[in-house]
Amino acid sequence: MKALSSSGSATPDAAPLVAATERPDAARGAVSAQHLARLRSRFGQDFLWGVATSAFQIEGAVAVDGRGPSIWDTFCRIPGAIVDGSNSDVSCDHYHRLEADLDLIASLGVGAYRFSISWPRVQALGRGAWNRAGMDFYRRLVDGLQQRGIAAHATLYHWDLPQALQDSGGWAARDTALRFCDYAQHVAREIDGIAAIATVNEPWVVATLGHESGIFAPGIRNRATAMRVSHHLLLGHGLALQAMRSSGYRGALGIVLNQSPVHPATDSDADRSRALLEDGLTIRWYMDPLFRGAYPHDVLDHLGSDAPPVEEGDLRTIAQPLDYLGINYYTRSLASASGEPPQHGPQVELTDMGWEVYPQGLTELLLRLKRDYALPPLYITENGAAFRDTIEGGQVHDAPRVRYLLAHIAAAADAIDRGVDLRGYFVWSLFDNFEWASGLSKRFGIVHVDYQNLQRTPKDSALMLRQFLRPCADPVAAPSGLRDTP
Ligand code: FCB
Repeated sequence: MKALSSSGSATPDAAPLVAATERPDAARGAVSAQHLARLRSRFGQDFLWGVATSAFQIEGAVAVDGRGPSIWDTFCRIPGAIVDGSNSDVSCDHYHRLEADLDLIASLGVGAYRFSISWPRVQALGRGAWNRAGMDFYRRLVDGLQQRGIAAHATLYHWDLPQALQDSGGWAARDTALRFCDYAQHVAREIDGIAAIATVNEPWVVATLGHESGIFAPGIRNRATAMRVSHHLLLGHGLALQAMRSSGYRGALGIVLNQSPVHPATDSDADRSRALLEDGLTIRWYMDPLFRGAYPHDVLDHLGSDAPPVEEGDLRTIAQPLDYLGINYYTRSLASASGEPPQHGPQVELTDMGWEVYPQGLTELLLRLKRDYALPPLYITENGAAFRDTIEGGQVHDAPRVRYLLAHIAAAADAIDRGVDLRGYFVWSLFDNFEWASGLSKRFGIVHVDYQNLQRTPKDSALMLRQFLRPCADPVAAPSGLRDTP
């Protein structure tokens, strides 16, 4: 196993908090090391720590070894669709750097890696022939993780639909749910050793941002279409779960939802009812069919004729028992009846996405889910933040990200203390990568990627994670970002 510095990147050598010569036992960064140890001790030994990515955002190699085009490849070609005009043709070039990237992941000391499988890489057209080279890539990925003692957590659909399926109706067509089921079954049967499979990542984003606001691929703007898409994604999830179980897959099966507590922007009745509706559209629209076998009535009333056609038996299929539920949490959302974007006071810290840093929302969300639903074990499958990092002398002092991560990890511990069955936490993201409509302009990684030469440089947040997870590992200089933490 190689160390951080051996993956083609420079090891930061930040100034120590306490000179090593004065405190040889504590090595460097004594104060923060204690803080990290205290925080770590709030989680059980079995708690799973991981880092997350998705195929389209990191792999590059879009026209290599038989991969077919996806809706995101197409979307990137629409002028103005991606804010910086970039695309993911190369991004982190992970496809060609698999072994070194696996070494980098291993050097962080994580127990799991969450990645996604690119459907058009394993089945170029989304139906018909399977692409052997694509399947082999994911076999090598899973084998490589196993060899390094890291659990493979795969997501089957992280938004990169084969373009050919979009051409025949995309997720608005019920048939796409059946195609997805075939794809899921094939992957679960043919790739050994995947510890956990999530069917769909964030169906709300696919439906609403992809088909109602149109700011994500495939760029459609029609609410009725968006709602059909949401139903077909859930149906595809349920069908895939059944198929994977019946074909003998023995790992854990789940789905990943993006969720934020929705707060009214003011105390007015209008804002309160808007918050309730948005809670319905974003959280209950997905949680209720999955865990109660029904769509929420208030949302159905609100949608009227835009509600999706639901066939006999669909809801039973969707409400399959889950082995786990993945939650992606970034921020809270504020609802205002006027539709005005929320005004944040000067005391509020915003990330580079303009998202409020609101760690207590994670605790609130988890407690609310526990209160309202009969849940399987939970995982935080994504949590992290974009900030404007600068790299200087091979170091990235991303103190705001370090603070963000530690505050959210503490918020997760608060939820566990109050009875939430939370089993794991994945940082979004391992790498700076292609952030969808924001292109390469937003950096979420704990590892910096230079898009000119593709060099990887662990940021202070990566060093913090490594120290958090493996306090006894070879001393690494205390990340300077930790100086600001309590
Ligand atoms: C989530 C996505 C992930 C990434 C983060 C910032 O919605 O699942 O791919 O873009 O947001």
